[in-house]
Amino acid sequence: MSPTPLKVAVTGAAGQIGYSLLFRLASGALGDRPIELRLLEIEPALKTLEGVVMELDDCAFPGLAGIEIGHEAEKVFEGVNLALLVGARPRGPGMERGDLLEANGAIFTAQGKALNAVAADDVRIGVTGNPANTNALIAMTNAPDIDPSRFSALTRLDHNRAISQLAAKTGASVTEIKKMTIWGNHSATQYPDLFHAEVRGQNAAEAVGDQDWLENTFIPTVAKRGAAIIDARGSSSAASAASATVDAARDWLHGSAQDDWVSMAVVSDGSYGVPEGLISSFPVTTKDGDWKIVQGLEIDDFSRGRIDASTAELAEERDAVKGLGLI
Ligand code: NAD
Ligand code: LMR
Repeated sequence: MSPTPLKVAVTGAAGQIGYSLLFRLASGALGDRPIELRLLEIEPALKTLEGVVMELDDCAFPGLAGIEIGHEAEKVFEGVNLALLVGARPRGPGMERGDLLEANGAIFTAQGKALNAVAADDVRIGVTGNPANTNALIAMTNAPDIDPSRFSALTRLDHNRAISQLAAKTGASVTEIKKMTIWGNHSATQYPDLFHAEVRGQNAAEAVGDQDWLENTFIPTVAKRGAAIIDARGSSSAASAASATVDAARDWLHGSAQDDWVSMAVVSDGSYGVPEGLISSFPVTTKDGDWKIVQGLEIDDFSRGRIDASTAELAEERDAVKGLGLI
């Protein structure tokens, strides 16, 4: 008997990220278990989405067990095991991701409530739509019956960007880089940390041996990569965001590598001085659908200042959405 399909919801499915993400999911990026796609869009985008579904059909993916589309969250999210919340407006040139709070926050109150009402008991929810950390906080707060540990926001794209930049600097391959960490918010204040990362088993900050590059090139290049892509492409990252969304979901469901960790924005338990309850990026290991914050890392003054600055921004965003009545 074939296994029951994993029901995967994707919101904003007719958007740019959706156009890459759906085909990765349908072609087996989450493993051998067949999947059923549940695609949520706003009503005016359903015709476009129908076209995307025709293309998915035309790929004849063996692992794609079914597709449902709709504009009502409570119908689309019925029984879903994984919800990838992508649908939200992207920023344009000159905007910060936090500028999207008012435009996008309300989407996540409604979707949090719908997931709370109809998702499967084992649901995992990954938020890609910006501002991702605070949108995840909004969804989590509006889903009181779902364990807060089931919500995460995407900082895997930043993590992958940091690995790629470090590989280019050191001449190592991306597979020789381990223990990369993004701390804090998926925003320009994020802190990509080389003091705990390793290149070919050597401490990355020591391997680079260039504090000026670390501070003035590496950190801003990673933190402002989204804006650089918007400048170059005229629209925000899409294929790389879809790829990171897949990486994060796969590792969450199936586990991170033994000798490594990944970056995920998850609800803080106060670890590393990050205020409890904020959705902040940490180094985490994952196993059997659960995550654990890596403990015991020494945080020096430089890292402390960076982590504090990013989590202060998260606290401001939380206060802003409280003010808007979203949490
Ligand atoms: P897009 O504008 O191409 O697509 C967004 C889609 O969401 C649209 O089709 C729109 O109709 C849909 N949508 C809007 N409101 C919705 C709702 N209430 N329910 C369901 N669907 C809804 O944008 P995109 O390029 O695909 O980006 C989507 C989001 O992802 C943006 O907020 C962008 O900033 C964010 N993003 C995050 C990361 C990250 O690393 N976290 C990376 C890239 C992009
Ligand atoms: C990114 O990091 O590429 C996305 O969050 C899009 C953006 O607004 O930068």
